[in-house]
Amino acid sequence: MLVSGTGTNLQALLDTVHEREAQVVAVASNAAAAPALQRAEERGVPSAVFARGDYADRRERDVAMAGWLAERGARLVVLAGYMELLRPDFLSRFPDAVINVHPSLLPAFPGIDAIGQALAYGVKVFGVTVHFVDEGVDTGRVILQRAVELPAARDQDEVLSALRPLEHSLLPEAVRMFARGELPADPGAG
Ligand code: GRF
Repeated sequence: MLVSGTGTNLQALLDTVHEREAQVVAVASNAAAAPALQRAEERGVPSAVFARGDYADRRERDVAMAGWLAERGARLVVLAGYMELLRPDFLSRFPDAVINVHPSLLPAFPGIDAIGQALAYGVKVFGVTVHFVDEGVDTGRVILQRAVELPAARDQDEVLSALRPLEHSLLPEAVRMFARGELPADPGAG
């Protein structure tokens, strides 16, 4: 798992699939202060911090982070609020096995502040996407999506509290699919 922040999605995985259909073997963060690290510690999951400033460049950091995860036996890398792009050197280490959860119906509203973007646009249907990660910003193939109609939504907190439960159910579902070998194959590969 890769985290940068609060870690409610990490918690959802720890509370559902962990030690059942899948094993959360390691949690890496780019931010030492991420409360998500505490959640990993409480469940006895090894964690480590890979701060950008501790490495010569992002590539070196990503290579070290990928190596650490691979050594711990990670087969799927789940981004749960990880706030940096990953270098190709990282992605090539886990082909078709890096996924992210994003609080919009992609390809609408990629990047930061997806909910703010959607509110500014005045959308009436919000949603959540779990998708494969590529080198772009929230551009990889979609795995799962769920929508919710909020025709009168005005503020971020209201949308966030409607979307959080969707994230917390969709992300574990995608991990279960991976464990069963059911994630959709890349139509462009092979
Ligand atoms: C979630 O809204 C997720 O969609 C986005 O970052 C947030 C992470 O929240 N990518 P948490 O740290 O899992 O609570």
